[in-house]
Amino acid sequence: MDENEMIAEEARAAAERAADSKELYEAKMQFLGRQGRVTALMKRMKEIAQEMRPAFGKQVNALREKLEEMFSQHEEHMKEREMAKKLAAEQVDVTMPGRKHGAGALHPVTRVKNELIDIFAGMGFEVFEGPEIENDYYNFTALNTPADHPARDMQDTFYLTDEFLLRTQTSAGQIRLMEKKKPPIKMLSPGRVFRSDDDATHSPMFHQMEGLVVDKGITLCDLQGMLDEFARTMFSATSKTRLRPSYFPFTEPSVEVDVSCHICGGKGCSLCKGTGWIEVLGAGMVNRHVLENCGVDPDEYTGFAFGMGIERIAMLKYGINNIKLLTENDVRFLEQFKE
Ligand code: PHE
Repeated sequence: MDENEMIAEEARAAAERAADSKELYEAKMQFLGRQGRVTALMKRMKEIAQEMRPAFGKQVNALREKLEEMFSQHEEHMKEREMAKKLAAEQVDVTMPGRKHGAGALHPVTRVKNELIDIFAGMGFEVFEGPEIENDYYNFTALNTPADHPARDMQDTFYLTDEFLLRTQTSAGQIRLMEKKKPPIKMLSPGRVFRSDDDATHSPMFHQMEGLVVDKGITLCDLQGMLDEFARTMFSATSKTRLRPSYFPFTEPSVEVDVSCHICGGKGCSLCKGTGWIEVLGAGMVNRHVLENCGVDPDEYTGFAFGMGIERIAMLKYGINNIKLLTENDVRFLEQFKE
């Protein structure tokens, strides 16, 4: 009897000491398991006189039931406690402010490129992209610039082999497109170009946007009309353009196109160096030799072409004074162009 009481007391103490379900289970096994104290008691049956056995058995069974009951109560409490602890640990405060993820933004060069595509796509131009590695024929010869032509010195070319080079101008795309498609043509060709040139306004890699229109009866007036529309959308509603004579082997006549200064409106300021005008792009009527090189009859068709530096437009539009800022990609710089 006394021994049973003692075992019950020890079992209760062990159950109370258990810190979690695992310890509680181990405590329970110490008493009720196959190697447990209660089982050991039962085994002592043999040592007991025959007539005492039923009473002894009854007592041990009573102890077993009592302990089972006691442990199952503890188990229930332990479960509740553990659940409460888990809920507290996993608590979510739905009133807390969310974590902010910095949103990216388009690079200014990409923005200007997209804007140019929007403007000219609205006038019916289609985008055509040529390869960055070109051969001499497309970049120069077919553009009326044969090997000994002095105009080759206008662009410091990165040659890869005698035949292949990194294109110096998106004008190469004019030839590639005209070889594929017969007029009427309205092409826009954006892309990277490369020249051995490096200072605050020149970078060995930059982007150009080429435009080409070929059809019957195209004149220089059509070119200026489109460029006026481009200047008004890109710079300011009152922007105007001015054509100055220039030279490119693949256009005749060739022009340099100025846009009225969008900062001072033409009065003269530091951006336009007091002239009221800013040089924005090169253009001209497609040289008849170029049309012939592409199998287009220059007596039937005429066309104009223009080419502009996308970095240059971005620098003018956003007042950026060094082209390197556009390739360094310092986030503090780029962040200023978030919409
Ligand atoms: N390809 C010329 C340049 O890079 C620009 C240009 C394009 C001029 C088309 C006339 C016509 O300087």
